[in-house]
Amino acid sequence: MAALTVRVLGLEFRNPIVLASGPAGFGLELAEHYDLGKVGALTTKTVTPEPRSGNPQPRLVDAPSGALNSIGLQNPGCDALQAELLPQVRDFPTRRIVSIAGRSPEEVGALADRLSDEPGIDALEVNLSCPNVQGDTVADDPKSVRAFVQAVRTATRRPILAKLPGDGDYLKLVDAALGAGADGIVLINALRGMRIDTHTGRPILARGVGGLCGPAILPMALARIFEARKAFPDATIVGTGGVSDLRSVLEMMCAGADLVGIGFAVMADPERVFGLEDELRTWMATRGIAAVSDLRGIAHRGGIDVR
Ligand code: FUM
Repeated sequence: MAALTVRVLGLEFRNPIVLASGPAGFGLELAEHYDLGKVGALTTKTVTPEPRSGNPQPRLVDAPSGALNSIGLQNPGCDALQAELLPQVRDFPTRRIVSIAGRSPEEVGALADRLSDEPGIDALEVNLSCPNVQGDTVADDPKSVRAFVQAVRTATRRPILAKLPGDGDYLKLVDAALGAGADGIVLINALRGMRIDTHTGRPILARGVGGLCGPAILPMALARIFEARKAFPDATIVGTGGVSDLRSVLEMMCAGADLVGIGFAVMADPERVFGLEDELRTWMATRGIAAVSDLRGIAHRGGIDVR
């Protein structure tokens, strides 16, 4: 039988499918309807030290082949995570990645420290790239990426994933994150975008600009994963951005992703997301591919006939 397991970050993942931070929340609603054991990992909504109510409404609008979101890191804060959510999350039959963010390296380091004795967390994602907040929660230059990652590295022995943006000089940010002790990167976050209400001539989102997600950004994400894999052949890469079906999962792996994050599609078509493991197994069996990890980065090595 085709081997779907992926070994990265010192962990074994049942398959390469990761529920990306955001649409899956803390997995509680999904767990009522779907078997979380069908995905390789759940990444929680990003948690900050204090509860945040997020941006004003409207903060979600459709876009061609996707959507723009402007949630603004709404989350219940670390106290609620520890008291109410983690006791449930830690029982899920999948790997659990807790996503964290803070306004300064000290703040996010302290958050990692608070979580360091919590059981049932397999890895931390440090979200450095939310397109919907202003100020120092976002690290968009190598120096600040280095400072945030170093602070978390000092605070925890857990595997750290740095979630980075797909715009700007992102390869320099990848280099900074890995150099500062991140065990891997999550690339890419939603890309800044806007829609205008033609009745009023004003932006639809209350904050004006939001993060474009969904199939619209898949080609951009693939190019960045491809370039990151080329520049960092040994790095652990979670490829996210516009993944919605088997083909896009395969494309991400061929471009160089070890694991494949799925965000928007969890909202749009959860049935399909939870069916991907079976689809992948069938596809591999039909092609005679023994191990899913054999697909990683094959676009750099001449490829195979992927249809
Ligand atoms: O607005 C948000 O909460 C989105 C976060 C992100 O894209 O990292």
